[in-house]
Amino acid sequence: MRHAARDPDLFGTESLTDLHKEAAHCRACHLYKDATQTVFGEGAAHAPIMLVGEQPGDKEDLAGKPFVGPAGQVLDRGLDEAKIPRNKIYITNAVKHFKFVLRGKVRLHQKPNTSEIRACRQWYERELLAVKPALVVAMGATAAQCVFGKITPIGKNRGHLLDLTENTKALVTVHPSYLLRLPDADAKAREYAHFVSDLKLAFEYIHHKEKAT
Ligand code: URA
Repeated sequence: MRHAARDPDLFGTESLTDLHKEAAHCRACHLYKDATQTVFGEGAAHAPIMLVGEQPGDKEDLAGKPFVGPAGQVLDRGLDEAKIPRNKIYITNAVKHFKFVLRGKVRLHQKPNTSEIRACRQWYERELLAVKPALVVAMGATAAQCVFGKITPIGKNRGHLLDLTENTKALVTVHPSYLLRLPDADAKAREYAHFVSDLKLAFEYIHHKEKAT
């Protein structure tokens, strides 16, 4: 099938609404079989910032919206502290179906593998072309792998803007779920503060860029 990530004639012509509809029927990997639905990105159509997470969790799979569960609450708090209004940005995931194993009645999150990340990458690429953000923030290793098209360690690349395309910078940070999983309260507070400082860097970059134009 022709799509804007591969076909220069289609660059910038696909709307998010059309992409969302098409993605609802995605069969590019096997994950659609057990998930409730495709969870596509959402937010401002021409947002200056695109946030990329890993994949929908249990709550997102049921709601059909990204970051509405516990990780979403951490993200919302961080965005608030960094003065980034959620409705002014675009939020999506590297993988658009929930991957899980059943343990009794509980659906336990499973990390997507490289072939699932690759199969789903066309949607991120096409969202990127439609939204044209000035900055992409990759949260966690799966998001960083999707955004850069290769394994990109968070620790080494964190704290500064990276070149993504001619007009787009990227920033990597941890995933909000990582903060939820930390058992130690001090480490949790420290890592959360670091996450917020990454989001503040995103805010500063966009703020200065918008002031300059
Ligand atoms: N974790 C993610 O990476 N994305 C979501 O939408 C929810 C949890």
